[in-house]
Amino acid sequence: MDKLLIEGGVPLVGEVAISGAKNAALPILCASLLCGDTLRLSNIPHLNDISTMLRLIGQMGVVVTMDGNEALTLDSSGLNNPFAPYDMVKTMRASILVLGPLLARCGEARVSLPGGCAIGARPVDQHIKGLQAMGAEITVEGGYVHATASRLRGTRIVTDMVTVTGTENLMMAAVLADGETVIENAAREPEVVDLANCLVSMGAQISGAGTDCIRIQGVDKLHGAAHSVMPDRIETGTYLCAAAATHGNVRLTRTSAVWLDSVVDKLRETGCEIDCQADAIVLKAPQRLKAVSIRTAPYPAFPTDMQAQFMAINCVAEGSAVIRETIFENRFMHAVELIRLGADIRIDANNALVTGVPRLDGATVMATDLRASASLVIAGLVAQGETLIERIYHLDRGYERIEEKLSRLGARVRRVR
Ligand code: EPZ
Repeated sequence: MDKLLIEGGVPLVGEVAISGAKNAALPILCASLLCGDTLRLSNIPHLNDISTMLRLIGQMGVVVTMDGNEALTLDSSGLNNPFAPYDMVKTMRASILVLGPLLARCGEARVSLPGGCAIGARPVDQHIKGLQAMGAEITVEGGYVHATASRLRGTRIVTDMVTVTGTENLMMAAVLADGETVIENAAREPEVVDLANCLVSMGAQISGAGTDCIRIQGVDKLHGAAHSVMPDRIETGTYLCAAAATHGNVRLTRTSAVWLDSVVDKLRETGCEIDCQADAIVLKAPQRLKAVSIRTAPYPAFPTDMQAQFMAINCVAEGSAVIRETIFENRFMHAVELIRLGADIRIDANNALVTGVPRLDGATVMATDLRASASLVIAGLVAQGETLIERIYHLDRGYERIEEKLSRLGARVRRVR
């Protein structure tokens, strides 16, 4: 298994381009199942999760053609196998996003239940409840969701909690349903809006995406379209945190701060100077960071996907801060690894009290999930000496060419087999 070897203590300086958003690209790839036409996508990130999703829809009958470096075309006219097998789904929970489109397009779907996940149980009951409300017959047996629906009917759905992929699944199911669907308590994440924009370009009738009430007027069929995936706001936030922690000075291009207000505000509270430009962000870090408390919550509040990265900043900032994780029940696994590097962190249920220390010292640590691994990379960039991060396949799921991008910013990092 690959490992990442980092020699810390070097400020990140320079310019790097941000890739397309993983969490927008994944549902948008599933949207291709909805139309028997060609969907042309650009700004697709080269990530393991994207490759997994392409393999998954490919074995369903979608013809995937790579088109240059970051573009591809998807032709689902030959879709003939509405089946998502366990061995593919178990590696990527987002596979559940094929359920709504397959039901809407084919009237049936057999999708493996996503396995457990390091950060929490992450059930999909809201996805199932919403589809049943739209008239789907759904049974769960043998680890699979078996779903059929002659034609889904529009209805009003109120999800029990804000769920990003739940909102996305139900929105995709609704675009071909008979009548109007209203999703209340909908997720407002920018990736939901990007998916809605892509669906509208395919002929869907959707209003309210980005608010907590999304209205979808069903249509008989969709047509092909071209869509460029939005920049990855979490990759953006991760590099901003790395630059802050290393007292660096970076310019991130092909991205925007419009989706990161809560993260930019918190970084400014640590003492960073941030200049938000049209399609770039410049961050200049202070010599000494101030510790800042955060509380994760659904968009537009502070994103849970940035919690681990901010914990790394607080490990080396001045003072103490509390990090409260309200979305997932087990999203502090990076804390014990950070403690191995010398951090002072005390966990109490879903609160982490972090007290800044004068320095971290390199050690061997283990990645446990995607954003936890990013937190360990940031800590390794700050720690004195060498940090070896194991199981970095977690990183490769969500960060394109991370060692190349970090090296371009002056980091001393390399991948060891
Ligand atoms: C999406 O996951 C993201 N993944 C996650 O990013 C992100 O952390 C999460 O949203 C929250 O923002 C993708 O978009 C592919 P949820 P998702 O449904 O949709 C509970 C990353 O690092 N819930 O919004 O699976 C759930 O357990 C990943 O890129 C139910 O109980 O998250 C959680 O506590 C990690 N039943 C809360 O709701 C359901 O049916 C929010 O989960 C659905 C969710």
